[in-house]
Amino acid sequence: MSIYEKLKRLEELRRRSEEGGGEERLTAQHGKGKLSARERLNLLLDEDSFIELDRFVTHRSVEFGLDQKKILGDGVVTGYGTIHGRLVYVFSQDFTVFGGSLSEAHAEKIVKIQDLALQNGAPLIGLNDSGGARIQEGVVSLGGYADIFLRNTLASGVIPQISVVLGPCAGGAVYSPAITDFVYMVKGTSYMFVTGPNVVKTVMHEDVDMEGLGGAEVHASVSGVAHFACESEPECLASVRELMGYLPQNNTELPPVLESSDSFNRRDDKLLAIVPDNPNQPYDMREVIKCVVDEGDLYEIHAQFAQNIIVGFARLGGRTVGIVANQPESSAGALDIDASDKGARFVRLCDAFNIPLVVFEDVPGFLPGVAQEHGGIIRHGAKLLYAFAEATVPKLTVITRKAYGGAYDVMNSKHIRSDINLAWPQAEIAVMGPKGAVEILFRRELDEAEDSEAAEAAQIEEYRETFANPYIAAARGYVDDVIDPRETRERLISALDMLQNKRDHNPPKKHGNIPL
Ligand code: HXC
Repeated sequence: MSIYEKLKRLEELRRRSEEGGGEERLTAQHGKGKLSARERLNLLLDEDSFIELDRFVTHRSVEFGLDQKKILGDGVVTGYGTIHGRLVYVFSQDFTVFGGSLSEAHAEKIVKIQDLALQNGAPLIGLNDSGGARIQEGVVSLGGYADIFLRNTLASGVIPQISVVLGPCAGGAVYSPAITDFVYMVKGTSYMFVTGPNVVKTVMHEDVDMEGLGGAEVHASVSGVAHFACESEPECLASVRELMGYLPQNNTELPPVLESSDSFNRRDDKLLAIVPDNPNQPYDMREVIKCVVDEGDLYEIHAQFAQNIIVGFARLGGRTVGIVANQPESSAGALDIDASDKGARFVRLCDAFNIPLVVFEDVPGFLPGVAQEHGGIIRHGAKLLYAFAEATVPKLTVITRKAYGGAYDVMNSKHIRSDINLAWPQAEIAVMGPKGAVEILFRRELDEAEDSEAAEAAQIEEYRETFANPYIAAARGYVDDVIDPRETRERLISALDMLQNKRDHNPPKKHGNIPL
């Protein structure tokens, strides 16, 4: 055979490897509103940047007639490419081939990509669309999953790992996305559950469909498993591209710095009007954040889950920062179990990837109640405290209004190694709010007073004058300065500049024991 004939054969094999499970199954895939594995990669990666590996791999099974049904690539497209010109490793499961199910060979392809990503210090993005373990391969397939889980765990905190769930992801398979840093889902077509609706019905006698049990909205707003619930696959993949712009390639690098056309010393008068004069009136902390950060862009993460805390990426002076903010508009910004979990995980992500933390604080305390106490608010709240305390990246705090009780300590206080803490003049920093404090301190006097309401109001006013201000904390250096809210942007950018060579270390240890 001449080289030209061999090239022709190669061309033919390449073409076949791109057919996946065939025209009919591809039509069915499109009919469900889903893209093919390759169409997804085209949207995710820079144009013409994808280089495929292992396109000739096939499964090794012979049982159930599988020796007659080999499909090139075996249900997963793997390789590398670029996003905004920066290297990423990718795998994209092909549901048209045995339902994207994971065989030994399919797992080996993913493992190879995981190893390359870790060795070469670049992010790994997995596009998941799979019926789970390849039933015909039994324990070999389960072993393949465990090989993947191990690598997800070893790569955690070394390279960013992003899971995009674009179809079913069931059984133990969910634990690969669960270990990774970000989980994206698409409404109406993505499902994640450990046991499906049929088993739930048989064992628990509960009637629920796939969407209700493990759809995107459920996981983005109730369980917190997913960080994003997107409207469509193209929107989802565009969002992943945007995310990548905020992240470093690995834990030894800094995130990319972008040119910012937003003036460093821009002062926004709106910042004087957002926080209401009445300390019990809510406001949207997002407005504060958007007035301060570059171009008003906040890439919010977990936006539908635990809305009493906001986490996300933004830029200040072109540098990526991780924003953690109480949201007075939801449960008055009180910290509860879910908010603590959400905040803690994000703080640790930022610390792992050299992303400075910027905290906007307006917190009346931890949410009281039997449900919270019995649900373990002590254990969960401790995670957020632990995460802030152990973080060694530059850490900044702006107290916009309330900083009460234990939550004052937890929300990146000076005492747990925050670098620069600023307070607005409206800040109230105290053990508790005026009303609660007065009821405890002056109960007897108030009971005995002729006009107890007037007496209480007078005590509250006195308490507020004495304690509910930023100057007692400032007098001790617990806040570094009290600032005009309009100065916030320039002061934060200046602090980040000042801290750019920060070196801080924790005592040597195998690892800490965060209260999980
Ligand atoms: C082999 C599978 C498969 C699997 C689907 N297929 N799942 N083949 N192993 N796990 C095949 C089907 O036989 C079918 O082949 C094709 O993929 C498409 O599947 P359909 O059922 O026609 O598609 P759809 O109606 O969209 O339903 C998708 C589905 C369903 C909901 C995912 O296929 C399903 O319930 N699959 C099994 C899911 C499951 O229980 N997996 C094991 C989970 S436990 P043809 O040739 O007809 O096109 C697990 C353990 C992991 O994964 C452990 C890690 C520790």
